[in-house]
Amino acid sequence: MLGNFSYHNPTKLYFGDESLNYLKDELKNYGPVVMLNYGSGSVKKNGIYDQVVAILRECGKQIVENPGVMSNPTLEKLNEGVEIARRNSIDLILSLGGGSVCDYSKAVAASVFYEGDYWDRFWLKQQQPEPGQRLLPVGCILTMAGTGSEMNAGTVITDAKNTFKVGHVFDDRLMPRFSILNPKFTMTVPAEQMKAGIYDIMNHIMEQYFSDFDDNTSDYLSEGLMRSLITASRIAVKNPQDYEARSNIMWTATWALNTLIGLGKKEDWMVHMIGHSIGAWTHAPHGYCLASVSMAYYRRAMKPGLPKFVRFAKNVWDIRPDGLTDEQIAQAGLEALKDWMLEIGLPLTISQLGATAQMIPGITQGTIVYPAGYMDLKPEDITEILKESL
Ligand code: NZQ
Ligand code: ZN
Repeated sequence: MLGNFSYHNPTKLYFGDESLNYLKDELKNYGPVVMLNYGSGSVKKNGIYDQVVAILRECGKQIVENPGVMSNPTLEKLNEGVEIARRNSIDLILSLGGGSVCDYSKAVAASVFYEGDYWDRFWLKQQQPEPGQRLLPVGCILTMAGTGSEMNAGTVITDAKNTFKVGHVFDDRLMPRFSILNPKFTMTVPAEQMKAGIYDIMNHIMEQYFSDFDDNTSDYLSEGLMRSLITASRIAVKNPQDYEARSNIMWTATWALNTLIGLGKKEDWMVHMIGHSIGAWTHAPHGYCLASVSMAYYRRAMKPGLPKFVRFAKNVWDIRPDGLTDEQIAQAGLEALKDWMLEIGLPLTISQLGATAQMIPGITQGTIVYPAGYMDLKPEDITEILKESL
């Protein structure tokens, strides 16, 4: 661990099929008015909404509903939520849904009491709220595993008018105060979204793992998480109702992006930067956008990052090195990654998501590019990666 860092994660987690029972205890810590954010209706169909509302009523809470938070939430919807929160003297924002609703809830929490242009300050300029700015507390009841939003301060918002999707990682103050993770709640997630979530988790780990060459505890943690995810994903794709597999996927998702495994590391995140721009153009699930450019990206990163790709092949994919050169070992690791992606049914090209050659200049333009991981890319390189991914 050659880096210097501090570590603090204030989110309290409740995990397991009885975890919703703890909501009552948490609600005691907040005032009477709860803003309930949720998506396009899945929580009503699967009955989770009814369970949560019953608990809120039993605790005497006044519920301010804000439904319709779409997947990949938009700036327009953020503005709407901020207005609702401003009109209703909210004491707690409760997020009921996947990463989109959780991200959105944090975005509203940060923006309600900011008097200036919050989009410009937090997302375009990437600044933090002033030290004294009031922020609303957020609680999360997670219904889909993938983003890690339940234990981090990330908020990804799409400016649909300008076809621009951008994330901002707030400081610790915006991390959910508590998150309830019941793997049973994820059982109704459509297969496509479950697979997208699985690759999102994998890629979060890879984005942090593929940087630096020092002997770093974070990398050993990452390898364990990747192995657990690969095992559980194979089971869950065959039998989505396997509780043990779904619970491992949910727990891995949280640890993949709650800041722990990035400690002491430079990190990469360029697959995510390209993926966000693909998402803005195609509206495809986030994990699919990442999968569609991953092979082209990692083949390119393999040369400058060779020792780490060799380690990935051996420690994550059990590639036997006997008689192989380092390049061949690393290559075999990437082939194993590709085979696993095909096995669980992920798209490996951007065309599968509806992207066309004509969109490539726009996707390139919408990609935030910075030196990261093992490469210092230029916009021309992004264009090449996208062309190779068609
Ligand atoms: O709209 P609803 O009804 O909620 O349906 C959702 C949505 O259509 C559905 N779903 C969720 N739980 C379900 C369910 N359907 C049936 N049963 C359930 N139990 O699944 C669809 C996708 O949900 P969404 O929340 O959009 O997915 P995800 O959790 O992947 O979140 C994606 C968003 O998170 C951002 C992404 O960019 C994207 O905007 N990310 C946030 C990150 C963070 N906070 O750190 C990091 C990630 O890299 C990512 O960028
Ligand atoms: Zn992601």
